[in-house]
Amino acid sequence: MGNQMLGAMVNEHYGSEGLLDRILTVARETGIEIDEARSDDFSAVSEFHIGGRKATIDLGNMAQLSAGDKVLDVGSGLGGPARTLVEKFAVRVEGIDLTHEFCLVANELTRITGFSDRAVFSQGNALSLTGDSDHYDVVWTQQSCMNIEDKRRMLSEAYRVLKPGGTFIFQEVFAGDREGAIRLPVPWARKSEMSFLWPAEAIRNSILEAGFIENIWKNVTTQYLEEYRVTAEKTRDSMQSSTLGVHLLLGNEAKLMRKNVVDNLSKGLISVYQGVFKK
Ligand SMILES: C[S@@+](CC[C@H](N)C(=O)[O-])C[C@H]1O[C@@H](n2cnc3c(N)ncnc32)[C@H](O)[C@@H]1O
Repeated sequence: MGNQMLGAMVNEHYGSEGLLDRILTVARETGIEIDEARSDDFSAVSEFHIGGRKATIDLGNMAQLSAGDKVLDVGSGLGGPARTLVEKFAVRVEGIDLTHEFCLVANELTRITGFSDRAVFSQGNALSLTGDSDHYDVVWTQQSCMNIEDKRRMLSEAYRVLKPGGTFIFQEVFAGDREGAIRLPVPWARKSEMSFLWPAEAIRNSILEAGFIENIWKNVTTQYLEEYRVTAEKTRDSMQSSTLGVHLLLGNEAKLMRKNVVDNLSKGLISVYQGVFKK
């Protein structure tokens, strides 16, 4: 499939008009004063990956981020991870994401929570980054490559924009140990044409072939599974009781999508890895 067609499918899959209003309305209903909102107030909806805010902080610690580091977040979603990194590690983040609406919401939640001078988001494609070569201290990506077919190109772009000695850090969903079709829909795909999960060792080899040096390679499939299972089971209640959560992004199929993630993980059809590599 061409990159342009895939890009349109990704935008259609994730984008849904009125997302910001939905988030702010539910936030108010849960008692959040929007003018005084903190970054963590929106984490349940804006940290859109297994392990939520905790996984972002774990990953930030693994990357040994330093204050002032220039971070590129590839597939920055609603900006939850970026705001957590700014808040906890005093870095500066530029986020790019293919989904136009996510960038609008990310910038607005960042303005509301007072981080606009340190985190900014724009529409962009992981396969053709606009940034200069040797520019960032850190290239960060969290569960944004499942929709990317040309993973070697994504890795070579990440390598290009990273400074020599810089850090490439990720959390990603890969294929599992067991072969077989995954149960769909999942949060990143309703159809199999949109989901590109490679076996972990194939990705690891491609990262090394791109020129990176491995520091950490970690299977975290079981680490966050139980907590994910619990929140996934509560999805329907959250939808009915006006609670902030990723169901605001995923719509009516949210419960099924999250249940399928739990089933796919439990059956070994998908896995979750974290990695830290150096240029
Ligand atoms: C599951 S969300 C994760 C968002 C964010 N990283 C987080 O953890 O909260 C996946 C994101 O990847 C983005 N994405 C998918 N393909 C992309 C590409 N080729 N370039 C940039 N972003 C992409 C989607 O638009 C979506 O926002």
